[in-house]
Amino acid sequence: MNTSTKHTPAAAFTPPAATPASWRERLDTRIDQWMTSPSLYRWALGNPVGRWITRRRADALFEVMAGFVHSQVLLACVRLGLLEKVMAAPATLDALATHTGLQAEALQRLLDSAVALRLLDRRTGGRYGLGALGAPVVTHAGLRAMIEHNALLYEDLRDPLALMRQPEQASMHAYWPYAADTAAAPGQPGAAGPGSAAAHPSDQVARYSELMSSSQRFVIEELLASYPFSRHRRVLDVGGGQGGWVMELARREPSLELMLFDLPGVAAIARERIAQHALADRITVYGGSFTQDALPAGADLVTLLRVAHDHPDDVVRTVLKAIYMALPSGGSLLLAEPMAQSDADSPGKPAVSDPYFHFYLLAMGSGRLRTAKELSSLMSEAGFTGIRAIANPMPLHAGLLIGQKS
Ligand SMILES: C[S@@+](CC[C@H](N)C(=O)[O-])C[C@H]1O[C@@H](n2cnc3c(N)ncnc32)[C@H](O)[C@@H]1O
Repeated sequence: MNTSTKHTPAAAFTPPAATPASWRERLDTRIDQWMTSPSLYRWALGNPVGRWITRRRADALFEVMAGFVHSQVLLACVRLGLLEKVMAAPATLDALATHTGLQAEALQRLLDSAVALRLLDRRTGGRYGLGALGAPVVTHAGLRAMIEHNALLYEDLRDPLALMRQPEQASMHAYWPYAADTAAAPGQPGAAGPGSAAAHPSDQVARYSELMSSSQRFVIEELLASYPFSRHRRVLDVGGGQGGWVMELARREPSLELMLFDLPGVAAIARERIAQHALADRITVYGGSFTQDALPAGADLVTLLRVAHDHPDDVVRTVLKAIYMALPSGGSLLLAEPMAQSDADSPGKPAVSDPYFHFYLLAMGSGRLRTAKELSSLMSEAGFTGIRAIANPMPLHAGLLIGQKS
């Protein structure tokens, strides 16, 4: 993306008209003054409790500051195939230098950093083995594909202010062709119009569909562990990509009939893959756009996985309404996607994944990270009732919401 944007200073701050401060505001002001006082650090180093608190805070801030180095250490390990290599057999620096073709001196720095980040582990005889955080990276191809894909976001974030000023210039924006369709307001040039769904270059469609398919594995396992799908007769997956989810459902729930709906280019890939897995008699695939076409009827459960966050509110309203129209009375919608952990109602909640999704979706172009409350209210606007969260053992990947057409 274009990173030549000038950094204009923020406009001068004008304090709001004076209103009597509440006790909470007065307390927050006192804490801010205390925390930023130069003498606090001196005082904290001089006593055990202060030292402990200050050290934890300094470590946490250092991690925030150095996060960009950590992600590149991870990327280097993935690109060099280091984790797979030490998983097969722990290896010495010299053996790894031969394997990677890197100078031992530079590689030593990578290995030591990877040990510090728990991607690698020190073993006897000066060898390196797999670390606790390296293990899932070796196990899941989808995780490695996302780490490689994040290199694109890393480029876009080189100048975060440029990204915020001109998100449409981001390379991530060009990666997702349908995001560009919905980034423009409906009726405007660039908005999804008749035929636009089919017009996306097939190599781009195949590339993003493959990435989604490989990274969907976690969500599939979490859904199957969290909800009894056997209580339904027919399931429609909207924005179902290459069909990984419906194929897994077909295998695990032999009595279920399945349908998938996605853009025509993606639907064609799904049809082919489903046929390759000999599941064409269990799964019917429909091509179309949920911003323009009616969804196929007949399902008593619709699943919408990792779709809403790609789109602005007006498109989410359209797709939720289309799902509502396609369902019979008593039918259900199960929505799964990353949800904001921290919001104005729960500001102190740990929200480790929020910054990633906020900036990923900004660079992508048209969507946004929503809280469970915001998504519930959009579902309710579309007519769904009895909306509730379903507990997911791993909410990092997806929060789950279910609602009914009454
Ligand atoms: C982020 S991917 C998620 C795919 C899959 N549900 C998953 O979890 O891996 C979003 C999917 O929505 C589809 N999609 C986007 N806009 C669409 C539209 N207007 N109509 C139908 N599908 C659409 C994309 O083609 C893509 O397969």
